[in-house]
Amino acid sequence: MEHLDQLVQQAAADFAAAADSAQLEQAKARYLGKSGSLTERLKSLGKLDPDARREAGAAINAAKTAIEAALEARRNALREAALLAQLAAEALDVTLPGRGAAPGGLHPVSRTLERIEQLFGSIGFIVADGPEIETDWHNFTALNTPENHPARSMHDTFYLEGQDEVLLRTHTSPVQIRAMQAHVERYKDHDTMPELRVIAPGRVFRVDSDATHSPMFHQAEGLWVGENVSFADLKGVIADFLRKFFETDDLQVRFRPSFFPFTEPSAEIDVAFMSGALEGRWLEIAGCGMVHPNVLRFGGIDPERYTGFAFGMGPDRLTMLRYGVNDLRLFFEGDLRFLSQFR
Ligand code: PHE
Repeated sequence: MEHLDQLVQQAAADFAAAADSAQLEQAKARYLGKSGSLTERLKSLGKLDPDARREAGAAINAAKTAIEAALEARRNALREAALLAQLAAEALDVTLPGRGAAPGGLHPVSRTLERIEQLFGSIGFIVADGPEIETDWHNFTALNTPENHPARSMHDTFYLEGQDEVLLRTHTSPVQIRAMQAHVERYKDHDTMPELRVIAPGRVFRVDSDATHSPMFHQAEGLWVGENVSFADLKGVIADFLRKFFETDDLQVRFRPSFFPFTEPSAEIDVAFMSGALEGRWLEIAGCGMVHPNVLRFGGIDPERYTGFAFGMGPDRLTMLRYGVNDLRLFFEGDLRFLSQFR
């Protein structure tokens, strides 16, 4: 029965060579099918005499069992391989981070504006605002700025075509006028007028563009008007604000004489840090002064009875100093790689 062993080996090799279950079923038919080689052997048993038939029958059945075992083993192997392939194809890496919702955050300059409002709010300043498209009168005339002042020239200020009376405000100082007028109106039927303390952060516009100037930038105007408001109050308020804003006592504040048409006397405010990267360098962060009597008058307030101080600071500059940013334009380009650092 030597060729029965060969047949079994042949079948096992055929099954092993079958790449998928269809090929395997075809191979099975060649041996165990209706006219398969093993089936043919069984059919030929009838021609043998009983003794030979028993012996040959036992041998053929043993071969059949062996072939069926090889078939079953190959079926299992193919099923397992198919399962593994499917698992690999549908693989899901549960350790990958989820997509989630991208968290937003406040713009660094907005953070500064909120901080300014909060710190001045803590000493009784209320937030005021005014329009970004401002009248020439509020932006210049009522701020004691004469017709021929350079700030009024075409290449310093954005005017609106065909409209002589309006422009994009060049500073937040016109809010001083609006706040004084509103205050006076509010208390016109009272004998006394309470102190006026406002902080007015907002956008301003000038024809200017480089690493430290943007055609749109921010200012925060401060105004305090009352019966005994002095330059000493101005110095105290500003110095205290700066220490709180930068969260350090390690800084010096300097008031450098300057000129603005709407304040007299006027000063530029410089700050210097006593440690860190900018140690010892004086940096200009605001303009200020005692409100000019003409400006009080334009606001409807009697300069013989009331005095006041005003300042206009640069929140963009304050933000750069606080976070160590060296190019102003980064604030206005909307690049998320920059902005997301402040979330
Ligand atoms: N408005 C001035 C500027 O834009 C700053 C300033 C405000 C100065 C208030 C004095 C008082 O430069």
